[in-house]
Amino acid sequence: MPKIPSATREELEAGRGYEALFVPALFEPWTKHLVNGAGIVEGCDVLDVACGSGVLARHAFEEAGKSGRVVGVDPAPGMIAAANEVQPGIEWMLGRAEELPFEDGTFDCVVSQFGMMFFQDRDKAATEMHRVLKPGGRVAVAVWNSIEHNPAYRDIIAVLDEQVGTEAGDALRLPYTLGDAGQVTMSLSAGGFEDVACETRTEQAGFPGSRTMVEAELRGWLPLFGINLSEEKIADVLQKSDGKLSKYATPSGEAVFPTSAHIITARRQH
Ligand SMILES: C[S@@+](CC[C@H](N)C(=O)[O-])C[C@H]1O[C@@H](n2cnc3c(N)ncnc32)[C@H](O)[C@@H]1O
Repeated sequence: MPKIPSATREELEAGRGYEALFVPALFEPWTKHLVNGAGIVEGCDVLDVACGSGVLARHAFEEAGKSGRVVGVDPAPGMIAAANEVQPGIEWMLGRAEELPFEDGTFDCVVSQFGMMFFQDRDKAATEMHRVLKPGGRVAVAVWNSIEHNPAYRDIIAVLDEQVGTEAGDALRLPYTLGDAGQVTMSLSAGGFEDVACETRTEQAGFPGSRTMVEAELRGWLPLFGINLSEEKIADVLQKSDGKLSKYATPSGEAVFPTSAHIITARRQH
């Protein structure tokens, strides 16, 4: 098992914050679509690209079982360190999608959940995913639908723009920039994949409360972009967010809302 690269205290806190605040609320409901889309079953060798704190790799690990192998790759040391805290049984590695640190034909399945919008070169990433797959292997990629199909996030972006600044709003606009799934299917085709298909799906997000929707961004997302707010500023933004976000609160106080994403699947033929 390779040594886990060291992360600074701040990086580790950001990774832990992402895992605690976002993963159960927003990301966990999607892993089943990637696991099914890539056809992960017992004994599969699986690569999770842009694994973050590892929620999808953990699901793949359950499916692949002891006879399989799961590797998670991400360029953020804090994410990799947080992932290793939660599940040290998976191989976690630092790496970029555009330059995957594996031999040709290593994996049966490659998955990547909500990472592709951050890749600097999506065509290169698709070529790399194709290269590390065995012939006949499958890929499944998730990207968020555009912001008009994710209206709760349009409201959170408005809070960040008004209360923190457009740099913060832009950090949250970024995940919704691949709403046109055609850009992803084109990259996969250009990367050599066959049978490229796209399904648009809806899943419920569920935060403990409407303020937590914003708090997750302030504590778990903005720090990944170097935007660190004081406790005083966080309390002020949360108080001012009520007007826009309390409509998402259920009678029991939780905030529940639909999210929309594209699941793109494809196969390496030869
Ligand atoms: C929204 S998170 C998704 C994490 C995880 N897949 C999940 O579902 O929780 C996006 C991830 O993409 C990673 N990322 C950014 N640029 C990348 C690149 N060029 N190659 C691989 N991963 C990248 C970030 O470090 C971050 O962990």
